[in-house]
Amino acid sequence: MRIGLLNGGGDCPGLNAVTRAVVRKGSGVLGHQIVGFRHGWRGVIEGEAVELTVDATRGLLYRGGTVLGTSRTNPYKAEGDIAAVLDTLARERVDMLIAVGGEDTLGVAHRLCADGVGCVGVPKTIDNDLAATDYTFGFDTAVQIATEAIDRLHTTAESHDRVIIVEVMGRHAGWIALHSGFAGGADAILIPEVSFDVDELCAQLQHRHARGSNSSIVVAAEGATPREGTMATQDAELDEFGHVRLGGIAARLAPEVKSRTGFDTRVVVLGHLLRGGTPTAYDRILASRLGLAAVEAAHDRATDTMVALRGTEIVRVPLADALDTLKTVPAERLAEAEVFFG
Ligand code: F6P
Repeated sequence: MRIGLLNGGGDCPGLNAVTRAVVRKGSGVLGHQIVGFRHGWRGVIEGEAVELTVDATRGLLYRGGTVLGTSRTNPYKAEGDIAAVLDTLARERVDMLIAVGGEDTLGVAHRLCADGVGCVGVPKTIDNDLAATDYTFGFDTAVQIATEAIDRLHTTAESHDRVIIVEVMGRHAGWIALHSGFAGGADAILIPEVSFDVDELCAQLQHRHARGSNSSIVVAAEGATPREGTMATQDAELDEFGHVRLGGIAARLAPEVKSRTGFDTRVVVLGHLLRGGTPTAYDRILASRLGLAAVEAAHDRATDTMVALRGTEIVRVPLADALDTLKTVPAERLAEAEVFFG
């Protein structure tokens, strides 16, 4: 059997561990040929394929980014692209295709299944907002990097009696903000799921400072939005899948905090730093297990499925289950962290 593999969407620590596992099991154990496509769906459209062997994929476990490359290309957007995808898959004699990505990449895979292409999905996003899986790889690494940054920011904030607003990724879901803010002992966490009131935030910080603390750390997801009418909102450009490109909430919030409270306020945007570098041990193992399970699913021709983490087990679920809704932060999870504010 010839099994195709591609990475789509934003890069994510652990992608190379998936590639390594797919090849090690798919080629090394099951005897299949693995063909990698460069730069996500763009590489399939353009026919950029590379044979992946066990030898060619050594040393990938701890390597960040993706050696295959990725893109946010949507082959259902421009006329003729999906025909090019089908041509490439036929030319490369791909029997099953493994797509590693978030809702956009997996959404394309699901549509391709309806067009007769056998596809298996592997969930990937540092945002951890994909439904049907408990965690996505890359998230743990992002949380670890953000937490280390917050730990460091505490000491400089304390030294200068400052408020520091730390902006992290997360446009529709605040999982990174919640987990890193919780682990890093943040004094406020702003997430897209719950719009915030600037006056309430400032009152919360003033209350804390009146009780003797001289500094505060606010962790804001890039998609955090002020309650309507309380602060200017952002105009954002859209990517090929119609998602906004965000960034900048911390910079807009800082002067509002400063003018309302008088506190010296600084901004740190962690952004793509959260996606860079080597994956944590947890992400290496999760990504490897998902890669093994994906190639087994391809071997079984279990098309239109996604491999997923449920508890401690890797299971197969219908691809559609991952696409219905985003997994957002429930209010009660934020409430747990709020106990420690102030
Ligand atoms: O989708 C994952 C993600 O990291 C989001 O958190 C972020 O908004 C977006 O990608 C950034 O995309 P890009 O790398 O295209 O700037």
